[in-house]
Amino acid sequence: MPQICPSILSADFARLAAEAEAVRGADWLHVDVMDNHFVPNLTLGLPVVESLRKATDIPLDCHLMIEDPDRWAPQYAEAGAGSVTFHVEAASAPIRLARDLRALGSRASMALRPATPIEPYEDLLPELDMVLLMTVEPGFGGQSFLDIMLPKIRRTRQLIDRHGLQLWLQVDGGVSASTIERCADAGADVFVAGSAVYGADDPAAAVAALRAQAKTATESAPWVRAL
Ligand code: DX5
Ligand code: ZN
Repeated sequence: MPQICPSILSADFARLAAEAEAVRGADWLHVDVMDNHFVPNLTLGLPVVESLRKATDIPLDCHLMIEDPDRWAPQYAEAGAGSVTFHVEAASAPIRLARDLRALGSRASMALRPATPIEPYEDLLPELDMVLLMTVEPGFGGQSFLDIMLPKIRRTRQLIDRHGLQLWLQVDGGVSASTIERCADAGADVFVAGSAVYGADDPAAAVAALRAQAKTATESAPWVRAL
């Protein structure tokens, strides 16, 4: 079953508890942490994640767009995030970091910017629970989906299947009713959606509609038929 992760980057930061409630039924709440160094934008950090953890039952999927995740990411796991994603471009010791995250009880996830290839990281895949492929340049919500990322989604799914892994493959950026089917067809099974969910009149209904669309596209996807 495809999973939908509304990104609170597109929510009202002054009403985060209510905005979490507005997407009831979502699989994860996607929390974009930006430090104004790894990306040219600044959002929120540990204190907000700690408060949000108490304010919602939806598990938190923390996407860290920050420098030095080796130092900071474990603290998000300790704060109760169910999944912590670090960018491999910023990590010094991604294997040690993934092991630390898992030891703290979190899922360990590795993100790639659009121009970062997956192939050099093939041997790391067994250390991970999820790979996040950016389908826009990280930093801002509401950007247009980069179609040229579809081949990387396909190649990543092939690597996962070749190794017989249960890894989730998440896409983030520009995912909407008009792009989610292409992503599912290429091999994604976890979908971040910011503006497509929080820009809708009924965010919870938008989550359900995106999931239904992804499910239909997945059922006829070449990578699922090959399994
Ligand atoms: C962008 C963030 C995304 C963002 C997606 O750097 O990582 O999670 O919220 O927003 P949309 O879905 O509007 O592209
Ligand atoms: Zn994100």
